[in-house]
Amino acid sequence: MSCLGKGSGFGKVILFGEHFVVHGVPGIVSAIDSTADAIAVRGGSGINVVDVRKGARGYVEEKRQQQLESVERILHALGVDPKSISLQIRLSGNLPGFSGIGASAASSVAIVRAVAEELGIILSDERVNEIAFEAEKAYAGTPSGIDNTAATYGGLLWFKKNMEGGPNIVERIRLKEPVEIIIGNTGIVANTKEMVAGVAARKRERPEEYARLFRQAEEVAFAAREALTRFDLRKVGALMNENHRLLQEIGVSCKELDHLVRLALEHGAYGAKLTGGGGGGCMTALTPTKALQEKVAGAIERAGFQVLRTKVGVESSAVTSSA
Ligand code: MEV
Repeated sequence: MSCLGKGSGFGKVILFGEHFVVHGVPGIVSAIDSTADAIAVRGGSGINVVDVRKGARGYVEEKRQQQLESVERILHALGVDPKSISLQIRLSGNLPGFSGIGASAASSVAIVRAVAEELGIILSDERVNEIAFEAEKAYAGTPSGIDNTAATYGGLLWFKKNMEGGPNIVERIRLKEPVEIIIGNTGIVANTKEMVAGVAARKRERPEEYARLFRQAEEVAFAAREALTRFDLRKVGALMNENHRLLQEIGVSCKELDHLVRLALEHGAYGAKLTGGGGGGCMTALTPTKALQEKVAGAIERAGFQVLRTKVGVESSAVTSSA
């Protein structure tokens, strides 16, 4: 028996295709250089999660029920009856608990790794990813798998969900060099599950309109992959703007997100869009060069919002050959 299990998962930013990916449209996601870290130890009474991550106010409280459900899902997937075990889990790391940057998926991956280590179970990255996907259902209802895939493997990834239930398409995209972005937080804790369910309901009600929007999202994703590969950052930015417009049309933006997107563009960002589930949470803007990143970040901070300065396209040591 080990005396302590440890594990980490990457935070992520979806550059293209959130929500559309749930329905089989490809998306592009990048891990960011912040992680959720977990330690797990058997003992105590029942299952407890102490979450000391820096977060938007209310994030930890808002997600507590979903977090406990996700831990139970992880234990089931590891073949352990949650009622038969006492387990203390501590979540920390430099990935803040903002909605939209994969805080839940990063914590799921971290917890899977930590609990498996504590129980002496050896898992491949592929299996870690599968179990984290099960855990994600507690937060997102019917997740695509894009968040847990980025949290497990890191790097910049092309992701397409297999709608027949087989393996998803996950391909690595290589950038000439990492690019600065900012992530702006509206401070609103969003419920991804409700946002995902809302899109599915509207898609059922307005099939023709949504089929057209989903086709456009697919075109944007393919064009973005090409632009990223060519390192045509102006084009990438224009496509992010287009993607934001499509997200507005499917009803997942909000006035605070639109405000931050506008602010970023007014201060010279190449492109900006909401990122993640929307309805609050975060937006991201493409800000190549440190100077531009600082200018846009400063404008958003002066408006009273929290900002994360990071890069996309950083190669990750955790990426394995399956990604
Ligand atoms: C959430 O980060 C991304 C969504 O597309 C949900 C998912 O893909 O599981 C909204």
